Amino acid sequence: MKPPRKLHIKSYGCQMNVYDAQRMVDTLAGVGFVETANADEADLVILNTCHIREKASEKVYSELGRLRVAREEAARNGRDMRIAVAGCVAQAEGDEIIRRAPVVDVVVGPQSYHHLPELLARAERGGKAIETEFPAEDKFTFLPQPKSDAIRGRGISAFVTVQEGCDKFCTFCVVPYTRGAEVSRPVEKIVEDVKRLAENGVREITLIGQNVNAYHGAGPDGRAWPLGKLLHRLAAIPDVARLRYSTSHPRDVEGSLIEAHRDLPALMPFVHLPVQSGSDRILSAMNRKHTVRDYRDVIDRFRHARQDIAFSSDFIVGFPGETEQDFSATLALVTQIGYAAAYSFKYSPRPGTPAADMRETVTTADMDERLARLQELIDSQQSAFNKATIGTTVDVLFERAARNSGQIVGRTAYLQPAHVMASTGLIGQVLPVRIDSLERYSLIGELAPVPPSQSRPISSSPPTIGA
Ligand code: 5AD
Ligand code: SF4
Repeated sequence: MKPPRKLHIKSYGCQMNVYDAQRMVDTLAGVGFVETANADEADLVILNTCHIREKASEKVYSELGRLRVAREEAARNGRDMRIAVAGCVAQAEGDEIIRRAPVVDVVVGPQSYHHLPELLARAERGGKAIETEFPAEDKFTFLPQPKSDAIRGRGISAFVTVQEGCDKFCTFCVVPYTRGAEVSRPVEKIVEDVKRLAENGVREITLIGQNVNAYHGAGPDGRAWPLGKLLHRLAAIPDVARLRYSTSHPRDVEGSLIEAHRDLPALMPFVHLPVQSGSDRILSAMNRKHTVRDYRDVIDRFRHARQDIAFSSDFIVGFPGETEQDFSATLALVTQIGYAAAYSFKYSPRPGTPAADMRETVTTADMDERLARLQELIDSQQSAFNKATIGTTVDVLFERAARNSGQIVGRTAYLQPAHVMASTGLIGQVLPVRIDSLERYSLIGELAPVPPSQSRPISSSPPTIGA
């Protein structure tokens, strides 16, 4: 029997790339590959790339430089190392990647991962293989299901892609070009995936999509189901303790999603809802299709449905034409909303997007200064949010052994890491933890007595802290 070949995947960027990397591992397992954490000993290295901001794209080429050296070293030891570039840079740049980095054998876009074995075989026959089409068939039909062992090895929290692509065309964003038009998977396929994950020990499911709340997959009744209805269906699957979804667009929050937050204890009260800017003028230039007022109204609807709900967001500073006044409006919005966490980025022009041609650019110095001010405000809100948990009891879903021996670590409803001294036998359970202190972003506490009414191994009771 041939020994298994070794595969190393390095993923950059969003949660969907993490999910896609697992699908690639499952696909290549079918042709005899096993994963290795060490790129140098791999027979196949895949860089699963991100194109969202300039910095993310640049990383690919510096990594390819390193891999060229590793490949030469492998060749000296009589071993072939193949190199593939997957993900959004592959989609956006296609054969340009091979021109810039001839060390690359395979370039494969996100819609073609089910063709990987075939592309690799082509490269092994001595050629280069490039596939960045949007094939007519649906890759999900062809991507193999993970084996039970693989699911168990990946832990108690899993992503499930429910939709891909985006039709919003924000003027700064490459996603509609790299991931294509918005497509939703059918309800029954998602139910099958979630059941299989739950049967193999997964307790927390995060539904992912570039614009997840635009979900409109075909339901078993032949109608298009919105995300809220899908969440209701998934909450009925035994042993699913927690449900989350990401990333949402404020324009696509419809009634069923708000109702899901009101009605489903398993649906975590933490929503990532990017706004990008607090200025209507900039939102309009970004083609966001919502105003600041619309965004605040959506937040109010969520809060009305579930009082303990908290939010995170994304912000871009220095979008072309952003004045100090526009930026102040962003700070004012952040102050008004009060976030549990948020990500902020300096605008970077992406080739092919409308904003890349806008002339009124903001200087790097202004961008740096605005980013620092925004991040300081966000950090202070996040610290206040975390500090408010001290002395309270919160539900934690335990995920794994911590680095410190004897400790295990899990997450609260708001994704805060929480550490306690306890047996690894509790991994996979949701248990109340009394929070004693805070170490940077981690909560430290001890197991609290479980009230008799909740003394089931899996509890989906709402947490006891508010936003
Ligand atoms: N420049 C800076 N940030 C960007 N994002 C998307 N495109 C760009 C860009 N061109 C940010 C947005 C988005 C997040 C995933 O990345 O805030 O929500
Ligand atoms: Fe990009 Fe999100 Fe806008 Fe779609 S909604 S274009 S993914 S920023």
